[in-house]
Amino acid sequence: MTEPKRYLITSALPYANGPKHIGHLAGAYLPADIYVRYLRAKKCDVVYVCGSDEHGAAITIQAMKEKTTPKAIVDKYHAMLKSNMADLGISFDIYHRTSEQIHHETAQEFFTMLNNNGDLEIKETEQFFDEEANTFLADRYIIGTCPVCASDSAYGDQCEKCGTDLSPEQLINPRSTLSGNTPIKKATTHWYLPLNKHEDFLRKWILEDHKDDWKANVIGQCKGWIEMGLQPRAVTRDLDWGVKVPAEEGKVLYVWFDAPIGYVSATKQWAIDNEKDWKPYWYSDDTKLVHFIGKDNIVFHSIIFPIILKLHGNILPDNVPSNEFMNLEGDKMSTSRGWSIEMDDYINDFVKKENGGDQMVDALRYYLNAIAPETKDSEFTWKGFQEAVNGELVAVFGNFVNRAFVLMHKLCGGKVPKFSNEIIDDADKQLLEEIKNTKTLIEKNIEGYKFRDALTAVIDLARKGNKYMQDKEPWIIAKQTNEDGKPTTEAQQKIDNCMHICLQLVANLAIFINPFLPNAAKRMCVMMKTVEKMLDWENAGSAKLLSVGYSLRPPELLFRKIEDTEVAEQVEKLKIKSAAINMNKETIIKEQLANSSVQLAVSKEKEATEHAKKCNIKSEIQFDDFAKIDLKVGTILSASKVEKADKLLKLEVDLGFETRTIVSGIALHFEPDAIVGKQVVVVVNLAPRKMRGIESNGMILMAEDAAGKLHFVAPNDAVHNGSGVN
Ligand code: 2FM
Ligand code: ZN
Repeated sequence: MTEPKRYLITSALPYANGPKHIGHLAGAYLPADIYVRYLRAKKCDVVYVCGSDEHGAAITIQAMKEKTTPKAIVDKYHAMLKSNMADLGISFDIYHRTSEQIHHETAQEFFTMLNNNGDLEIKETEQFFDEEANTFLADRYIIGTCPVCASDSAYGDQCEKCGTDLSPEQLINPRSTLSGNTPIKKATTHWYLPLNKHEDFLRKWILEDHKDDWKANVIGQCKGWIEMGLQPRAVTRDLDWGVKVPAEEGKVLYVWFDAPIGYVSATKQWAIDNEKDWKPYWYSDDTKLVHFIGKDNIVFHSIIFPIILKLHGNILPDNVPSNEFMNLEGDKMSTSRGWSIEMDDYINDFVKKENGGDQMVDALRYYLNAIAPETKDSEFTWKGFQEAVNGELVAVFGNFVNRAFVLMHKLCGGKVPKFSNEIIDDADKQLLEEIKNTKTLIEKNIEGYKFRDALTAVIDLARKGNKYMQDKEPWIIAKQTNEDGKPTTEAQQKIDNCMHICLQLVANLAIFINPFLPNAAKRMCVMMKTVEKMLDWENAGSAKLLSVGYSLRPPELLFRKIEDTEVAEQVEKLKIKSAAINMNKETIIKEQLANSSVQLAVSKEKEATEHAKKCNIKSEIQFDDFAKIDLKVGTILSASKVEKADKLLKLEVDLGFETRTIVSGIALHFEPDAIVGKQVVVVVNLAPRKMRGIESNGMILMAEDAAGKLHFVAPNDAVHNGSGVN
């Protein structure tokens, strides 16, 4: 599109059904925030809207789990999400909620217009019904086996394991999540959006017009849907929690019909609060609408909602930048399994815990952006977090800014030194050129939704700054002194030129880092005693941002190092949390069974027990339990059969520090003479036990193969007797 007059930026509305993790943050919120901060720095007219998605089975099922009302659930989690996002610097212009009246009215108006225009179809169909719970089952009220990946816990609207969008009819062996019963089919009437009627439009708009500027994952998913054959999609549900279908008792709008309209109602509310006109943002062709989402939301934002917008007479999104998923320490991130880092936890552990917690907001934003799953799934590890923060933010960016300030105070009297053009050299010119090139590179990457590359360009520039300073060595030049011990005029001129360029680079780095790490940029402004207006994008690339003679403050620490202990604590916390959640789940299942409310739990629990039995795994122990066992290597000195005991051998084992008698049940597997001289692993702190009158002082470790044959567990190479085994 030609240069837009205004921008409307949205991030997917998170369900207010629980805390959200940092994978969500990296997927739909952080990239949008960077984009918006960049546009604001460019002084564009931009509105960034989001809010809580407060309808649908995700909410009502959570209410059942927490034994409370849907209203209590959305109130609780809306407050949490709103404050979490603000704490992490996500700068929405409004964070709205779909339970607001203005949203209900807006969604109903969309439905009514489409219905009155004949764009919806009304059909009576047979749908799954739970006789015991006396209710129709849609979406998450029904689970079964996924026809694509065979996961046995796929929902009626989506399989969370493989991400496939489903309808209840596609599930194999469907069960009600309310009673666990197999549902019956019962007739009901619903409104449908005939996606099939819009195939030509979608083919042209997505597969032709946007084939080059939309991400490959978005085009790929859309193509898949279109090629599979588009079907009419029900936009109403037989439920009572949601936006009421106008003039129709007992039916609400499907959550995926009303949620994206939440972007419109949020814009309306923002306009009311700020005395603006919301209409150009949704009706003018010179508005650029961009939806930031995660990959599980692609079809709704690039197929279904655009059809609704088109029918309703609104503009269409210019782009739908979608991220893949972020995994965590080798596994899929999941709040329900406890394998996640909740935004709320990170804030409590790092941001609210210490002074300067805003540094830790930037640290998280940095790492999440550096590993953003822009084209494929990525992986968060605490070690990687530490390496990125310590090795790049602290050692490269922070280090450059700090050195520039320290040296300026030491060698230039705490003021911006003057620059003498007559002694400018190639290194100076090159660095000044690099600043301009970096500006262009960042622009190109941010505008192309490549935030990782944009951030890399910023760090690379700081790296170049470090190299420039290292090559120039102003602290060495300062040793060329007069008799009074001060640098010679010539030396001071060189120092001044070097430090002048370094300081102009610091000012540029503040502008460049601002969309990514706004707190660092603010601190830099404080150090430079500049107003935040200096961060306007138009200033970037200039070598005259700081005036000669202007006195600057001493440096402040921009970022702090992440300690090994913090990494270890977080990894441990993750393990404990996931174990606790899974244990707690068992308790909940037992409770539910006692109430006989969810029969499904029976089969789930049975499955888990059977799995454990099949794999022959003993119940879980803590590390402390394992640490109590003392294992040492010893050598068998002699072996003899125990009288009247077919299975027992009496062994004398040299443990280095002493020789012990051990009675072992291995006589059916080994001839005594054959094992003399063998090294073995012994449990040396097992309480003594008498067998056939002989006191046994330890136990030899053995492996048992599938045929029941025993094998010694021994070190690969000979080691000293008494060596520990950990
Ligand atoms: O997947 C989700 O979490 C949905 N609540 C996203 C909705 S985005 C938009 F349509 F509101
Ligand atoms: Zn699946």
